[in-house]
Amino acid sequence: MHPFLEHVNPALGSLLKALNMDKTFVKGEGSWLYDEKGDCYLDMVSSYGALPFGYNPPAIWEALKQVEKTAEPSLVQPSFLGAAGELARRLVELAPPGMDKVTFTNSGTEAVEAGIKMARARTGRQGIISTYGGFHGKTLGSLSATGRASYQKPFFAPVEGFGFIPFGDLEALQRVLAEKGEQIAAVVLEPIQGEGGIVEPPPGYLRQAQELCTENGSLLIVDEIQTGLGRTGYLFLAAEEGFTPDIITLAKALGGGLFPIGAVLARGDVFTDDFGNKHSSTFAGNTLGARVGIAVLDLLTEREGALLQEVREKGKRFKKGLEEIKEAHSRVIREIRGRGFLLGIDFDVSRFNLPETLLGIMGDQEMLTPVLSSHLLCQEQIRVAPTLNGDTVIRIEPPLNVKD
Ligand SMILES: Cc1ncc(COP(=O)(O)O)c(C=O)c1O
Repeated sequence: MHPFLEHVNPALGSLLKALNMDKTFVKGEGSWLYDEKGDCYLDMVSSYGALPFGYNPPAIWEALKQVEKTAEPSLVQPSFLGAAGELARRLVELAPPGMDKVTFTNSGTEAVEAGIKMARARTGRQGIISTYGGFHGKTLGSLSATGRASYQKPFFAPVEGFGFIPFGDLEALQRVLAEKGEQIAAVVLEPIQGEGGIVEPPPGYLRQAQELCTENGSLLIVDEIQTGLGRTGYLFLAAEEGFTPDIITLAKALGGGLFPIGAVLARGDVFTDDFGNKHSSTFAGNTLGARVGIAVLDLLTEREGALLQEVREKGKRFKKGLEEIKEAHSRVIREIRGRGFLLGIDFDVSRFNLPETLLGIMGDQEMLTPVLSSHLLCQEQIRVAPTLNGDTVIRIEPPLNVKD
């Protein structure tokens, strides 16, 4: 038996086996993965957005090798962390104006946890509001903000103090702030719901949510862990809306596809001494992660941001192609959604519109998108994946530097 199936995750392993997706990839290069037989696969998942430059990007490896060459020490807390300081400065220079403090973490979920703690320490309030279908991670705090009951139930989440509103609905936000305002520390929103099925809110939603939060003395945490750092063709979608959120969370792409790192950016007045003195993490701000983060920002901003421009253009072309497919198959494809290289195909397949078919049954049983992913992997050698909270949606997230 494969050790992954036996010792790491029998539940996921069995599902992958049943779907014929139990491949072991032994080599990855750019947008391509190779299995044990040497067959190659085009990757359109990017590890859910964590591979901005594909597999084994030479420039990121170079940043890691450079640390070895110079013998810069990596885990030296407590002290003034040089590389972490440099990365923090680069981030605040690139972030919407007014962002001033950066707390490093080792993953996305920890960044959300830290954001929640920061908001509670600043406001002296407990309440956290997030959205149905939203995804913010799977440790207890961020899981409590993740809007899917099936992920929460076995773990007694949500923990106390969490509530949900519909995504994109400013009136619902206004209502909850009017009713429970003085208990609400923060509202957590994604600029585009990634795992929720690549769902875009109405234009101006984030900026107006920030205004409502500010009026109420609550903070807005914009979770750009999936949308940020180039995935949608921009570094920060909040910046595109022309405002500065109280808190922004980042992770995924910041690790350049090789090293786990997350970050919480906050306005100076949001970061309290209480948070600074009482929040910590042994591995956070380590030199390898920070040097990788700096190399990622270099790549994203070199040639005046040419890569981001390419993502915007290629994403538009890709989306247009998908829309043509949708027109040809409008009976089973409801919508093509997303921006840049965060795209989603929303299928409309059920026993209602495809009666007496296996596809219709799979649609009703939430198995259609896993089976389609399996088909594309095994027959076309293309990796795609369903979104975690949106069962009818296939995500398309190629590396940002994927060739035409
Ligand atoms: C928007 C968003 N927030 C948080 C997370 C959690 O990040 P991680 O898996 O690194 O804990 C994810 C992961 O998919 C995400 O998409």
